[in-house]
Amino acid sequence: MGLRSTRILASSGIMLALLAGVVRAADSVEVLHWWTSGSEAAALNALKTDLQKQGVTWKDMAVAGGSGVQAMTALRARVTSGDPPTAVQMLGFDIRDWAEMGVVANLDDLAKKRGWDKVIPSALQDFAKYDGHWIAAPVNIHSTNWLWINKAALDRAGGKPPETFDQLIAMLDNFRSQGIIPLAHGGQPWQDGTLWEAVVLSIGGVNFYKKAILELDPAALSGTTMRKVFDSMTKLKSYLDPGFSGRDWNVSTSLVIDGKAGAQEMGDWAKGEFIRAAKKPGQDFVCIRFPGTQGSVLFNADQFVMFNVGDRQRDAQLKMAAAVEEPSFQIAFNTVKGSVPARTDVPGDQFDDCARKGMKDVAEAAAKGTLLGSLAHGYAQPSGIKGAILDVVTQQLSGQISTNEALKRLPEAIAAAR
Ligand code: GAL
Repeated sequence: MGLRSTRILASSGIMLALLAGVVRAADSVEVLHWWTSGSEAAALNALKTDLQKQGVTWKDMAVAGGSGVQAMTALRARVTSGDPPTAVQMLGFDIRDWAEMGVVANLDDLAKKRGWDKVIPSALQDFAKYDGHWIAAPVNIHSTNWLWINKAALDRAGGKPPETFDQLIAMLDNFRSQGIIPLAHGGQPWQDGTLWEAVVLSIGGVNFYKKAILELDPAALSGTTMRKVFDSMTKLKSYLDPGFSGRDWNVSTSLVIDGKAGAQEMGDWAKGEFIRAAKKPGQDFVCIRFPGTQGSVLFNADQFVMFNVGDRQRDAQLKMAAAVEEPSFQIAFNTVKGSVPARTDVPGDQFDDCARKGMKDVAEAAAKGTLLGSLAHGYAQPSGIKGAILDVVTQQLSGQISTNEALKRLPEAIAAAR
């Protein structure tokens, strides 16, 4: 073989390899998310399998850390280096921040073809759209004002779930006398914030939540009701075990599953862990709205924001967005994850009692104006303000600052973050 034909062969070989690369890239999605617990990973598997069936390869970019704080840091690094992932799990105001930077992709055509406008609740569309354009595919609706109770422990405490904050305290006292950890909690800012926002709603009610958390009214943030909120946090702290600091949320959930702890305040992703451990609602565990917050829902919703990745991954990206909104996927994913569907037209018959209660609560709260964005999960304030509030909450709960200092710092920290 002459030198020329060798060169031709070699270069066509390179061409083939390049083409193969292009084909592979076009059929793959790289997905950044923080779903690393057993139930979270199992739920996500439904999407991986769906896409695999359509010939789309999944490149996993999992960044552990509840509520996605670490994932957002990882995203910043990727976008800064000009190499964003195809799709990113994201919450509320973070979606707006990235959209503002002009780095996200447009999903209008797909949304129009599939009629998303008609089936996605407006509370989610407010964030899934930017400037009137669809930029994200909502996956689910979670809510944070739940209490998960070990049924056997509750039965030993009289069997009646608490309806008020005072009844909650009485139940926790009983759990203590049973020799178990009364309240399972993990001391991390986002978890402290998840507990705190439920206490704010329980102690202050809907209008107070709106004033303090949504409107950031300085008087509400430092007044007598907020004092009662922080005092209630101190009271709740007396029911935590010494090992609470830094504990992951799913480790706390397993303490309740195993009967080592009586209850946990947590979003309904905790239910995913109960289900994964083959526990049944009403039989092994009880799900109730955090006492004093019945009738209101503090919501968060996971969404996949699509990034501008050019033509190379566009087809696969659209396949992923379409798959997420398929009613069959909404059922397969959310029954495992603990959340409820992001679409209003998905029937509830395949969901368990807690999820059915969740669906009903969300619909009723939306109708009467008590569907409120969760602060700890990005649906009440942009991340700077959220972080400033959670810092104060964590410092108070961990005993670094007193209630008096927390009341003084809260409005100050917010003003500085604005
Ligand atoms: C939330 C998210 C849930 C779950 C949870 C714990 O912010 O919406 O899907 O992952 O964090 O990591």
